[in-house]
Amino acid sequence: MRGTAVVTGANRGLGWHTAQQLGQLGYTVVCTTRRLKEAEQTAEALVAQGLDAVPYVLDVRLARDAEGLARELKARWGGVDVLVNNAGVFLDDGVRLFELDDETLETTLQTNLLGPLYLCRALIPMMMARGYGRVVNLSSGYGALSQMGPRITAYRVSKAGLNALTAVMAAEVAGMNIKVNAVCPGWVRTDMGGPQAHRDPAEAASDVVWAATLEEDGPSGAFLRYRQPIPW
Ligand SMILES: NC(=O)c1ccc[n+]([C@@H]2O[C@H](COP(=O)([O-])OP(=O)(O)OC[C@H]3O[C@@H](n4cnc5c(N)ncnc54)[C@H](OP(=O)(O)O)[C@@H]3O)[C@@H](O)[C@H]2O)c1
Repeated sequence: MRGTAVVTGANRGLGWHTAQQLGQLGYTVVCTTRRLKEAEQTAEALVAQGLDAVPYVLDVRLARDAEGLARELKARWGGVDVLVNNAGVFLDDGVRLFELDDETLETTLQTNLLGPLYLCRALIPMMMARGYGRVVNLSSGYGALSQMGPRITAYRVSKAGLNALTAVMAAEVAGMNIKVNAVCPGWVRTDMGGPQAHRDPAEAASDVVWAATLEEDGPSGAFLRYRQPIPW
């Protein structure tokens, strides 16, 4: 066994491929999804491939779910090695700021920004205690301040905030062999990206897995796409 890896939103899209590839590398993959049925189906599908996977129900919007996961990881594995903050929503494509409704704004910020914050807050202390950890935050070019444009306010702000969280967390754990990076996967063929997207999800997930398994001399506090730093 190589270690324990948590993937949020593991039931489909990039999360599914990331969970599968981490399993293929020998990690015990904690497949978190917000519904029990999907969590069980995801873990069962990986186990059927000979991989080590367990289901866990977690809604990233709930701080108490993150705290419960931390207790479970501590009890079963003594901690956690990898956290992939993958779960995300993209609800305001094309929507102007002036048309943005409260529910869309709140759901987007809760899922894409507060969720990763709750999980980092709950899980990274266990990484600090063991002196090892790899955290990957699934970000987007829409979160780059250097490329801001009109519309898509909630998603843009959520991913810009996630980038800020990445930088803060990386600074908090500097020198502890814990890497925290934001990865833009490119435009990927998933439910979110749609069928026109040019990137294969397994290929995009391989970049996430690369960032989740960096050596000690690898980058931290970086914003990465295709395994290279890009402007914030
Ligand atoms: N696809 C792209 O082109 C692209 C580009 C840039 C960045 N990204 C980022 O990459 C990540 C994965 O995207 P994707 O394309 O794989 O999206 P996707 O196919 O739409 O999958 C999104 C995942 O997030 C989960 N999720 C949503 N809200 C949740 C919540 N409250 N609690 C737990 N899980 C929740 C979904 O679970 P349910 O099945 O329960 O809804 C699903 O597993 C996202 O953070 C996204 O912003 C994607």
